[in-house]
Amino acid sequence: MRRDFTFWVLVLVFGMPVLFVLFIAALNFIPCGFAMDCSQVALPEIIHTPIPTLIPASMPIVQTGGAGTGGAKCAVPAMTVLEAWVNAGYPETDAFQFVAANGATCEATFDDVMVLFKEGNLWYSGAPACVTCHHSNITAAAANLDMSSYAGILAGSRRASPEAKGNDILGGGVWLNSMLYEVLTLPSGNQRAMPLGRPPGAFPEGGPVVLLGQQVVTP
Ligand code: HEC
Repeated sequence: MRRDFTFWVLVLVFGMPVLFVLFIAALNFIPCGFAMDCSQVALPEIIHTPIPTLIPASMPIVQTGGAGTGGAKCAVPAMTVLEAWVNAGYPETDAFQFVAANGATCEATFDDVMVLFKEGNLWYSGAPACVTCHHSNITAAAANLDMSSYAGILAGSRRASPEAKGNDILGGGVWLNSMLYEVLTLPSGNQRAMPLGRPPGAFPEGGPVVLLGQQVVTP
């Protein structure tokens, strides 16, 4: 009886670790085979469903006639639009014209310009919108510049108070002289290159191509 007891204790003491190691080994080798990178694994055969891939349905493009009535948007580098707007005397309500990337003559309004300042992810993927920092609370806004409205943009930067006039960022209607042009074309890494924190090569020269405005004369 005593000997039996010792025997079973020994079986347990030495048998359990062996069983444990066998168990772990089985977990590893049974599904994966003997290669340590599991490359001998036998994958189940792929059974294709008998349904062929469906061809995605699409709506026919609405064609509404000749130039000017199609309502076609214009693909254009962002700075081309800003340039046209500033050089046209930065109108608030009147439309201004610019030439799209494909040579079409297009028309846009200040609302289209605002998109360039108000939308995040626009100048490059991950870009904060200009108005994130240049918002209407001008004492707290970066460079005391409010880009969230027409009045704010015209009032300019470095304003001491909401009533005060600041530095003109529109170059008095000459794009190449404007601070807007300067900060958008400064090389990335410059602490005045906008949108602030722009990584190198974030957008091509002239800015990202955006879709806005209306085509008035097809090329
Ligand atoms: C993450 C915050 C941030 C974003 C986003 C941002 N700015 Fe700025 N901006 C600043 C700061 C900070 C300054 C002041 C930089 C300095 O003077 O060193 C500045 C300065 C400027 C200035 C110059 C003002 C002056 O008087 O010096 C202009 C113009 C400007 N930003 C336009 C823009 C435009 C346009 C966009 C969007 C394309 C933009 N900013 C996006 C933070 C930002």
